[in-house]
Amino acid sequence: MKDIILKKFAEVYGDAEGARAFFAPGRVNLIGEHTDYNGGHVFPCALTIGTYAAARKREDRKLRFFSMNFEHLGVIESSLDDLEPRREAGWTNYPKGVMWAFGKKGYEIPCGLDILLNGNIPNGSGLSSSASVEIVTGYILSELFGLGVSNQDLALIGQFSENNFNGVNCGIMDQFAIAMGKKDNAIFLDTSDLSYEYAPIRLDGAKIVISCSNKKRGLGSSKYNERREECETALQEIQAGMGINTLGDLTEEQFESVKMAVKDEDRRKRAKHAVYENQRTIKAVAALKANDIALFGKLMNESHVSLRDDYEVTGEELDTLVETAWTIDGVIGSRMTGAGFGGCTVSIVKDEAVDEFIKKVGEHYKSVIGYEADFYVVEIGSGPCEL
Ligand code: GLA
Repeated sequence: MKDIILKKFAEVYGDAEGARAFFAPGRVNLIGEHTDYNGGHVFPCALTIGTYAAARKREDRKLRFFSMNFEHLGVIESSLDDLEPRREAGWTNYPKGVMWAFGKKGYEIPCGLDILLNGNIPNGSGLSSSASVEIVTGYILSELFGLGVSNQDLALIGQFSENNFNGVNCGIMDQFAIAMGKKDNAIFLDTSDLSYEYAPIRLDGAKIVISCSNKKRGLGSSKYNERREECETALQEIQAGMGINTLGDLTEEQFESVKMAVKDEDRRKRAKHAVYENQRTIKAVAALKANDIALFGKLMNESHVSLRDDYEVTGEELDTLVETAWTIDGVIGSRMTGAGFGGCTVSIVKDEAVDEFIKKVGEHYKSVIGYEADFYVVEIGSGPCEL
């Protein structure tokens, strides 16, 4: 891939002298959904697919961007003196947001850049192509300008830019999973204090299969921010009678005893999901450590039910993928992953059942939804690197 992007870089920008090549992964979350802005736990991992980039410093303050995924848009120009979110800037709002965020955090970017990207994460799939672009951009800035930003800070800067430049009130999970990824490990992250632990994923005889619904969704326009507000209101209602900081502080039993403080029934369901999903994630990681993969899978399934019935972020496409997966022998667990409202599902499938899984889920999905799903057997990869 390094050769491909440097060759294209030369084609687009005249030559590739002085250009360096980088990579940042995508991510999939195994369990712990919509818990990261509720002070709960998540359990994501970085993937071997992601965003490749070539970049070089310029002598002026110009910024030039080119994406091999959006070739028809050509070179998009901007400047370090114009770091404002603009609708017409399209995907370049992500790298520009990171440059803006570096400035806000006190890092000086002394000159402009020519950047070329080539991602192999399906766009809008829910595998965090945008966070991957953010982290590769941050890594480029840190490396090219010798800023020495730690990977954890890259994650925080990425989230800061997404929240404040791109207007999506996301949690820390995606950027953290990508910046801190470790081959063959998932990350058990406590989002209340960012303490974390790597957990090796040894799926002897099974694979991680991503089923992509191909239902396009934009996080900004989705109900993501609305769910977040519902959880914040529920927390305030509970806090009126109990000293907690986040919904993640509550056990299931504690929640059951205080839940009527949450006045609205839908809002009570959202809070229930946040509490139970956090506890499920803790249990799932314990199960994995005890080599009880069957229990891990069962908790994944329960996670989906909760996201479907209580959090209501699945929809017909994701439910069809997951509910069909559940009928297949050899499926250890299956659930939606990421924000929901489209995007993809993650399933743990025994090796010998993978072909049948893809065939059966694919056919049934097409017959119910009317268009195809895509399937990816993925591997767990590491964080950002120079190629
Ligand atoms: C998106 C957000 C994350 C997280 C998930 C849901 O991926 O970017 O911060 O909230 O949704 O778990």
